[in-house]
Amino acid sequence: MDPLADKFVPIGEILKGGHTGNNVKIRGWVYRQRTSGGLAFIIIRDSSGTLQCAVKKDAVGEDAWKAVTEVFLESSIMLEGSVREDKRAPGGFEISGTNARLISKGEAFPIAKDQSVEFLLDVRHLWLRSQKLSQIMKFRDYTIRYMREFLFEKGFFECSPPIITKSACEGGSTLFEMDYFGEKAYLSQSGQLYSEALISGLEKVFILAPSFRAEPSRTIRHLAEYWHLEPEMAFYNQKMNMELQEQMLEHLCHKLAKEQEGLLVSLGRNPKDLLEVKAPFERLAYDKAIPRLQELGFKIEWGQDIGADEEHALTKDAKNPIFLHNHPKEFKAFYMREDPNKPGTVLSADLLAPQGHGEIIGGSERIWEYDELIARMKEQNMDPKDYGWYIELRKYGSVPHAGFGLGVERLVKWLLNLDHIRDCIPFPRTINRAYP
Ligand code: 4AD
Ligand code: MG
Repeated sequence: MDPLADKFVPIGEILKGGHTGNNVKIRGWVYRQRTSGGLAFIIIRDSSGTLQCAVKKDAVGEDAWKAVTEVFLESSIMLEGSVREDKRAPGGFEISGTNARLISKGEAFPIAKDQSVEFLLDVRHLWLRSQKLSQIMKFRDYTIRYMREFLFEKGFFECSPPIITKSACEGGSTLFEMDYFGEKAYLSQSGQLYSEALISGLEKVFILAPSFRAEPSRTIRHLAEYWHLEPEMAFYNQKMNMELQEQMLEHLCHKLAKEQEGLLVSLGRNPKDLLEVKAPFERLAYDKAIPRLQELGFKIEWGQDIGADEEHALTKDAKNPIFLHNHPKEFKAFYMREDPNKPGTVLSADLLAPQGHGEIIGGSERIWEYDELIARMKEQNMDPKDYGWYIELRKYGSVPHAGFGLGVERLVKWLLNLDHIRDCIPFPRTINRAYP
């Protein structure tokens, strides 16, 4: 058998029943193995599933017997045999093996049961083979795919922003600074400022890129590097912006529930929960949220930011996300437009996920007029000179526009109701870890 040249059948196809009675070859990794007397049971996995194979010592040559008995968990292997339906086998099918060959036996796999979280993070490069993480990574992929599809369908163009930048988009406190050929530069916190430049040529753009935040805190929902989906739309106001967000999420949740039901179920999430996500989402103005929180016993005053505990209290019983909108302009970013109907507040909305998963989207209508932008920057003690190119966009045919940023891992954490954000990305970067 040749792992590259031969024709192999994906295990998932066998589990669907399409190959019963056929002689097939499969290739993958050893998931479980046990031998009793002259009979070996070996469970092999590939990316599409796991399948039990039974091999009789008498029925195969010496090399094949060695290949299925002298192996480690995670050795890579090829096996040939005939497919039988067997109710007792996990998955309902079994292969009676007639030949087997190791691709690489390797060494004893270091991960056993009941390992500590820290150890599993140290061997993340190996732990990513686990069923749970493989399934989450597939789910993450479908989540991104369906959002992209939705946006393409609406006429968006996908663009790529720079990652190295001189502009702080979200304030100085979480910037990763770097040496750029002797000058100071930063890893991007958001591609938004650049997508605002792109809309004058393309009108509706989105970027999907990593964003970096030097978050000094250890929490279950902060990464130092996360994937950021940022649509930006010319000729959009904040109302249209929020409608786009809820439409996208409803579409996503329903498509995941219908097309990835199996993944959801095996990851412990009831697909019905996602089918219940329906637009329009509740709109809760900041100045209504404050008294509601005070009633719930929080010591919070108008003008203070709403933190994780408050977000939890507002959303713990919700089925749908909630838009928290019109924040006081003092603690929101400089580019957000003041609401002409509610001076002192900006046309912003944070979308809070149900069950206390917290903010998954931050969006706003942008200041698009030159004088207003300069005035706001001065109010926030910013030096307009640092943002020359961005301000210049307001000099040449500026138009009303809006956009939002969605944290992909935060979204996946909510969709799967996971405890911690680190399992929503293959190699998490957190305050105490950039390895492996
Ligand atoms: O609310 P944020 O900071 O907004 C922006 O960056 C805007 N420039 C976006 C835009 O309008 N284009 O971040 C947006 C989202 C948050 O709602 C959250 O989902 C996610 O990015 N996010 C994080 N995800 C993981 N780890 C972190 N440290 C995150 N910080 C923000
Ligand atoms: Mg935010």
